[in-house]
Amino acid sequence: MDNQNNLPLHLGIIMDGNGRWAKKRGMPRTFGHKAGAEALRSVVDECRRLGIRYVTLYAFSTENWKRPAEEVSVLMDLFDRYLDEAAARLDKSRIVFLGDKSAFPDRLRSKMEQLELDSRDIDDFTIMLAMNYGGRDELVRAARAIAAKAVRGDISPDEISEDTIARELYTYPAVECDYIIRTSGEQRLSNFLMWQSAYSEFYFTDVMWPDFGVKQLHEALDEYTHRKRRFGGI
Ligand code: FPP
Repeated sequence: MDNQNNLPLHLGIIMDGNGRWAKKRGMPRTFGHKAGAEALRSVVDECRRLGIRYVTLYAFSTENWKRPAEEVSVLMDLFDRYLDEAAARLDKSRIVFLGDKSAFPDRLRSKMEQLELDSRDIDDFTIMLAMNYGGRDELVRAARAIAAKAVRGDISPDEISEDTIARELYTYPAVECDYIIRTSGEQRLSNFLMWQSAYSEFYFTDVMWPDFGVKQLHEALDEYTHRKRRFGGI
């Protein structure tokens, strides 16, 4: 498989089912998140190998703070470890965080900022981690930024275009998301990449995220290569 074979330029993944995967094994939900972090590593490595340019992973939504403190704390530890690994492999991928970083513990937030800074010149492979991210929140943020420009007189309301909005999104310049995979049998967007998914193709699988590996990724990508994308045309 390579990009000549019509692979998505920008792949989005909603990594769902960690908790149920663990429960089925009589284990705590956090065991599922640990296994989910392993799945993430192998799937991201394979995306890089295949030449997919952008991979966006839904790691933590604005709503996930409502989970029990113990679960949130384990997720923060997993993020922390992942950031350390990414920092140690800086030549490999650009890392961008989608979402409001200010809500994270200071230590984590400064690692996130440093990693973004240190990896910003890598342009062949970008991992976008949606953390404390919500699609509506992203649009509210964009509206505020544009309104502030209008108040300053830097833009007039009739100059506001789709491009004006796209430029204020966390994912810019990767605006379109070509393909979105969601695991665990759920079939909804859950506030992920709302603007960017306007023309996305979707792939839903019953496989729980910790069981989603290279084989399952290839199956999903094979399916994408057979889809005909018309973007509203015929
Ligand atoms: C959804 O499963 C998963 C999450 C809310 C967290 C995703 C996190 C990881 C894959 C772990 C590591 C991430 C990084 C970036 C290292 P769920 O808990 O909602 O599962 P359920 O629907 O079965 O309850």
